[in-house]
Amino acid sequence: MKIAVFGATGATGASAVAALRRERGPYRVVGRSLPALRAAFGDDPEAELATWQPGDRDSVSRAADGADAILILIGGDFHRWELLPDATRTIVAGAIAAGVRRVVLAGTVLVYGVPRARPVGPDHPLDARTRKGLVRIEQERILREASDKIEFTILRLPDFYGPGVEKSILAPMFRTALTGARAPLFAPFLTPHEFVFVPDLGPIMVALAEEPRAANRVFNLGGPGVITQRAMAELAFAATGQNLRVLPVGPTLLRIGGLFDPRLRELVELRYLHTTPLLVDDSSLREVIHVPKTSYLEGVNQTIAWLRKTAEPVLRAS
Ligand SMILES: NC(=O)c1ccc[n+]([C@@H]2O[C@H](COP(=O)([O-])OP(=O)(O)OC[C@H]3O[C@@H](n4cnc5c(N)ncnc54)[C@H](OP(=O)(O)O)[C@@H]3O)[C@@H](O)[C@H]2O)c1
Repeated sequence: MKIAVFGATGATGASAVAALRRERGPYRVVGRSLPALRAAFGDDPEAELATWQPGDRDSVSRAADGADAILILIGGDFHRWELLPDATRTIVAGAIAAGVRRVVLAGTVLVYGVPRARPVGPDHPLDARTRKGLVRIEQERILREASDKIEFTILRLPDFYGPGVEKSILAPMFRTALTGARAPLFAPFLTPHEFVFVPDLGPIMVALAEEPRAANRVFNLGGPGVITQRAMAELAFAATGQNLRVLPVGPTLLRIGGLFDPRLRELVELRYLHTTPLLVDDSSLREVIHVPKTSYLEGVNQTIAWLRKTAEPVLRAS
């Protein structure tokens, strides 16, 4: 099966590509910039590089030509998410024109809004009231409305972490684990939470593209268990041998930070995730495919090892 990965240059894209490389045979990486694709995948003879532009359906059709399935892994910073529905519309229209059989979307649990159940199953109402949750509901709707022309699979995901993952509520904490500075955690940080280790995600997305029983279905993916931000920080600081001191980040600090960084401002409306646990039921996913789940201890150790490799030369030089 030929799979084309849209958003291949992101963290999830890297994980999907690693899974496709293990399967062997050619695969396609698709992005908006050829230089970025060359920098990431240019040294792999099995990688077919293709570009597309949001709004240009024909560019998608060319990029998807000959593909059986497309992984939609496009993202970007929170404050740019309003671009995602139109980009998704272009991908789906181009995929249909190219005769692609299935699109698989990396979605988010933000579509549920404040959870009314524990755990939250994939049939929980889509009750988002946040700007970002509403955008992602619209993105999902585009796939559902095309289901008479192309199969869809949607995977709703909680917060990420892992090697190479910069867009994560845990990313600033991981950096402080190297330096010993106070670890910024979103208050309240003892709320039960789940995190997905991004290297686990690629094989799951690929398996969903290949699995007939995943056609026209929506799934959740949870972490390897319930944990808190604080416990993740304890694991990270234990891995580096630094003393953990927490810097609680509440809405006031976010608003002040948001004056200078729009990404921080966007986190204010997501505070409910730290006051009302959103824990998911992913049993229906585990019924149809094998779901690898790296333990939090192993995942944190791998993340610290990656950070040491990439960040320490910079820290030493500064
Ligand atoms: N981070 C988390 O904790 C988390 C949690 C749940 C779900 N998710 C979702 O999972 C998906 C994958 O996450 P990720 O971190 O791998 O994504 P990402 O790194 O933010 O973005 C992946 C790629 O998408 C492309 N892209 C960015 N903005 C775009 C736009 N406006 N239109 C079209 N393409 C765009 C970029 O590739 P090119 O520039 O090469 O085109 C980028 O490298 C995203 O939808 C994300 O929101 C993330």
